Amino acid sequence: MKRRNFLKSSALTTAGIVIFGSKSLYANDIFEQKREFVVPPLYEGEKIDGKRVFDLNLQKGEMEFFKGLKTQTIGINAPFLGPTLRASQNDTIKVNIKNSLGYDSTIHWHGFELPAKMDGGPHQIIKDGSIWSPQFAIKNRASMLWYHSHLLHQTGAQVYKGLAGLFIIDDDESQNLNLPHEYGIDDIPIVLQDRNFYNDGSFRYVSSMQEKMMGIHGNYVLVNGVIAPTLEAKKKLTRFRILNGSNARYYLLGFSDNKKFQLIGSDGGFLEQPVTLSQIKLAPAQRIDIVVDVSDGKDVVLKSYRGANSQNMGMMGMMMRNMGFDREFDLMKIKSKDAKNSTATVPQNLIKHPVWDPKDSVGVRNIVLQMRMGMGMMNRGNGDDNFFINGKSMDMNRIDAIAKKDTFEIWKIINKSPMSHPLHIHNTQFKTLAINGRKPNPSESGFMDTVSVDPMGIVYIMVPFRYYSDNKVPYMFHCHILEHEDGGMMGQLLVT
Ligand code: C2O
Ligand code: CU
Ligand code: CU
Repeated sequence: MKRRNFLKSSALTTAGIVIFGSKSLYANDIFEQKREFVVPPLYEGEKIDGKRVFDLNLQKGEMEFFKGLKTQTIGINAPFLGPTLRASQNDTIKVNIKNSLGYDSTIHWHGFELPAKMDGGPHQIIKDGSIWSPQFAIKNRASMLWYHSHLLHQTGAQVYKGLAGLFIIDDDESQNLNLPHEYGIDDIPIVLQDRNFYNDGSFRYVSSMQEKMMGIHGNYVLVNGVIAPTLEAKKKLTRFRILNGSNARYYLLGFSDNKKFQLIGSDGGFLEQPVTLSQIKLAPAQRIDIVVDVSDGKDVVLKSYRGANSQNMGMMGMMMRNMGFDREFDLMKIKSKDAKNSTATVPQNLIKHPVWDPKDSVGVRNIVLQMRMGMGMMNRGNGDDNFFINGKSMDMNRIDAIAKKDTFEIWKIINKSPMSHPLHIHNTQFKTLAINGRKPNPSESGFMDTVSVDPMGIVYIMVPFRYYSDNKVPYMFHCHILEHEDGGMMGQLLVT
């Protein structure tokens, strides 16, 4: 029995546009095509004069997400998405990025603590045809970070078409843990991205006011660029490092058999101890590092469960539920009948975190998130400016916050809107102190660069500014729903 495609009954189906939807993410036969799981190519660069050097090319491409249909895409050294870059803490990296797209772009190093000039935000434009070569010493601990376009007002569109990739950092501690760590064998990276398509196979990006407001939610999910792939697990203990690379969609991840898994890391690296879970929510831009035991040899499906958007309130919540954003759907299948015994384990103790005492902070900074709703949103020009931090929309000529290097700040993030916003801060890995008046759970206690704030909720975080300062060039902080970021929910932070 085929479930009904929600798009057919939704307001998203604008008159005259037929949306490809016969096997959307809510169809129960999405694995029919038996597409193979694709591991993004690993690229460890080349050691030249003591530096690790990477050559990247931003290029146009074409993909066949649906058999017989071509989709125009963009990617990095590939038609869609980019290689997984890999380096170690204390490496100095140099990345030569050539822009062959035919239009301007940027590449931002999401999650890195790095010099502001190398950050790749809206101030570091790579003009069409030119090469930008950022260079910096890696300070972050072992973690999976990522890179993506960050062009002002264009981030959503460029990431949607494919400008994103992963970056794995190793350190000595992580090498000594006996975790699964063979890239693509028992240490599998996953990029989740939902997308919409027209009938000719081309991407359909934002086309309505609702999509600007809620962020684009696609009715297909690409897993490393493939719809509903099947992975043949090679080891009984398999590690998945998952990035929510979607523009706006939240996922509540879990397995079809309610299998428990161990959460070992979050955005900025390992937790102190593994946490056993059966479901976990992943907001846009966040990453998790999990280890799964598939020794029962049975097929299992990685799913997103109902509840990913359940906190959204009022008109917004109702609209999202009506549009089917909060249903359960399948992401990928894992077959494990040929999985071999594993010598890897999940140790009881992973790493030690430094103790950060809120008393050591220099003060509390209030960050108020707001958005204009409904008809008030229409026709507001290029940047749209419907989204605000502390009452203001993004302005490249305005500094919104000045912090001092070698200090901690407490950020009190206050969401005065009816939907969740994942707030991301550049150049830091912070820790959560409180969520709506409660202490964070162990699974929420790791290093993060993106934290989700519930509708009308308040989150306190403790934010370190280490290593780098610049009196002129700012970093960004913003909602990582890319349509909100592009719509103005972004500010500029100077670390002096
Ligand atoms: Cu992932 Cu400012 O970005
Ligand atoms: Cu970032
Ligand atoms: Cu937002």
